[in-house]
Amino acid sequence: MTDEAQRRERPLEGRFVLLAVTGSIAAYKAAELLRALMAQGADTQVLMTPTAARFIGPLTMETLSRRPAMLDPLELLPDRRIGHIVAAGAADLIVVAPATARWLGAMANGLADDVVTATCLASAAPVVVAPAMDGEMYGHPATRANVERLQGFGYTIVDPELGPLASGQTGQGRLAELGTIMDAARSAVAGRPIRAPDASSRPPMSTPPRDQDLTAWHVVVTAGGTAEPIDPVRFIGNRSSGRMGVAIAEAALARGARVTLIHGQTSVPLPEAAQLIAAHTTAEMRRAVLSELAGADALVMAAAVADFRPRQPAGTKLTRSGTMSLELEPTEDILAEAAEESRSRIGPVAPDGPTPRERLGRPILVGFAAETGSLDRASGKASRKGVDLLVANDVSEPGSGFGSATNRVTLVVPGQPAEPWPMLTKAQVAQRLIDRLLAVHRGAGASSPDQRTGERTA
Ligand SMILES: Cc1cc2nc3c(=O)[nH]c(=O)nc-3n(C[C@H](O)[C@H](O)[C@H](O)COP(=O)(O)O)c2cc1C
Repeated sequence: MTDEAQRRERPLEGRFVLLAVTGSIAAYKAAELLRALMAQGADTQVLMTPTAARFIGPLTMETLSRRPAMLDPLELLPDRRIGHIVAAGAADLIVVAPATARWLGAMANGLADDVVTATCLASAAPVVVAPAMDGEMYGHPATRANVERLQGFGYTIVDPELGPLASGQTGQGRLAELGTIMDAARSAVAGRPIRAPDASSRPPMSTPPRDQDLTAWHVVVTAGGTAEPIDPVRFIGNRSSGRMGVAIAEAALARGARVTLIHGQTSVPLPEAAQLIAAHTTAEMRRAVLSELAGADALVMAAAVADFRPRQPAGTKLTRSGTMSLELEPTEDILAEAAEESRSRIGPVAPDGPTPRERLGRPILVGFAAETGSLDRASGKASRKGVDLLVANDVSEPGSGFGSATNRVTLVVPGQPAEPWPMLTKAQVAQRLIDRLLAVHRGAGASSPDQRTGERTA
């Protein structure tokens, strides 16, 4: 592609664009706008008012933009610089979409008590504002005056459109089409030089862009909870959302792996790029895991499988009649069985093989252990089950349990001291875990430095 063709296709290439989201019902559209900005080459940072964060999760925006969203003008970067000042100084463009009536008023008057206003005040970058609100609100003389004031600052206003509104009324208040906002964004920067091309002058990324370092790997991940039938309508289940396993599947896909996701009950969207296998009970999950094992380079068992199941599920729905006892029997230990199976069938070993299956003759095995309270049992469990890595977490700790977006885990490598990791998002845990899979594969073992990240692996 010629430079000119590339400029046409990715007109925001290399530019640092701040997408500022305020508390309108249209905030959900900001995720699509972010993707559109990035598709045209923008390096992005999301700013959100606290109200915006009630309409759309900062985690969604962080995951898409690869930078933690800024929510507070008092926030400092990890190196203690003031977050919004760094963002304001490096920005090539600020897009405020959707912009609420409150924000237009705050900005028109320079009231810097939210991160969006503070950043705009501190920046020399062009600003594009796309208001969204009820039609009466947009027509109110106060709003009109605020809009005029912003135009007086040189800000581009992308007027809302006429149409049905979330309130059920019709009026001029719908956030403009994303294409119209994108046109305004491109025009605002056209012909301007990139202000601060050096990455160090921009806020740091949450995870540095990864290499495609898992191409040729087949990663099998289990996620979610199993459901053991009591009768045709009831089951014994658990609170697993599948979020950790899905984060691992997504991270492996992003790093080039072919991924099979064996999932029980989940409450998060599953990655479409993975091969999906539904497994509702522990027995179904066992069958799926053992059948995928032979072709896997890594098996990551993040699902929460039942330890017990009803010995004899009723064939028809049980009715209420006094007290009832359920006889339970232990389920299969899938992880231990998978470990035994893969080690007993070690294939031919090629010391320079590009994947674990070729290099080690078997998949790398990773287990998860959800505990409540002390993690002391985890080390014994890792050796007993015969896994390469065990990820243990205390699911009763705030921010670390089922369904939460974050996790504080301890990595256990058999024969090594346990390694507590700090509180991280599940996406960050997934990336670190993959770094460690690669360390095992490289034969660095789990106790050698990870050459790519420079991180100690034990
Ligand atoms: C469901 C719901 C939808 C709302 N949508 C809008 C909107 O589209 N535009 C707007 O100006 N305010 C809207 N509001 C009111 C704002 O959320 C409110 O004024 C808030 O203080 C704005 O905060 P912010 O400007 O700091 O984000 C809405 C409120 C609710 C409850």
